[in-house]
Amino acid sequence: MLLRILGTAAGGGLPQWNCACPGCAGARRHPSRRRLHDGLAVHGADPGTWFLANATPDIAEQLEGQSALRPGAGQQRTPLIQVVLTDAELDHTLGLLRLREAARIDIWCTQPVHKALTARLLLTDILSPYTTLTWHDLPLTGAGHPATIAGLEVSALPLSDKRPRYAADEGTHPAWSTALKVRDPATGTSALYAPALATWSAPLNEEIAAADCVLLDGTFLDEDEPRRTGISQRTASGMGHMPIDGAGGTAERLHRVGAQVYYTHLNNTNPLVDPGDPAHERLAGLGLRVAEEKMEVQL
Ligand code: MLT
Ligand code: MN
Ligand code: ZN
Repeated sequence: MLLRILGTAAGGGLPQWNCACPGCAGARRHPSRRRLHDGLAVHGADPGTWFLANATPDIAEQLEGQSALRPGAGQQRTPLIQVVLTDAELDHTLGLLRLREAARIDIWCTQPVHKALTARLLLTDILSPYTTLTWHDLPLTGAGHPATIAGLEVSALPLSDKRPRYAADEGTHPAWSTALKVRDPATGTSALYAPALATWSAPLNEEIAAADCVLLDGTFLDEDEPRRTGISQRTASGMGHMPIDGAGGTAERLHRVGAQVYYTHLNNTNPLVDPGDPAHERLAGLGLRVAEEKMEVQL
């Protein structure tokens, strides 16, 4: 399987349109630092078979930016879009509205995510006059058979009941926020994609130990970053994102794993958006890296 990284930024992207923080100002001065909202295209065994992991507000530019994802010669339109969702956050789902020119969109998600997108965001109501939406249940990891999408086995590992702000009053459910597990049955290799990690669990630890590649929540470098930079009164973990650094951060839990590990979903406040920040070297010493825009991972 091949993972094509379509974007690596948290909600708002880098730069964020209404922000002049050091990270956003740096990205305006140095366009190579710009990051689109985090998402992936995952290619299966057969050429031309792929699915999207999340559909970001940048999705049209992200597809256009990858020659392999543009409609091929002799083909007027990309006929079918397949999207698997980690959660119902706006930065991971608003792209579905931009895909309305598709003849058909197939969407896999967990039950609470489906409810949020259909009963709160009204995606079926709004998109039905434009395209055909087909919703599929995304199986939970370890509970029955995974879904087969583009020839790959896909399931959702429940991470937390973190609900999007627009659905904060919905009931709790363990699969509001999930990690996608993708396994290639032909090679036995697997990848785990978790852009919103609120807490570390034993099942997550097991899945990370078994994975060949992990793309993990790198929203905030440290626990106090949201408060220090003035974007929130809450801490990083209070916002549903375990910090990278510090006691209880993800770096200390990840530095001995065998998988290739890349941090993604970087917020514009994260010092790592500056490629010269010393934290890059410190993480590299632990075998951890920050995902690059348009990076490819072959597994
Ligand atoms: C998140 O990743 O926590 C959300 O996208 C934040 C938000 O925009 O509400
Ligand atoms: Mn987000
Ligand atoms: Zn900013």
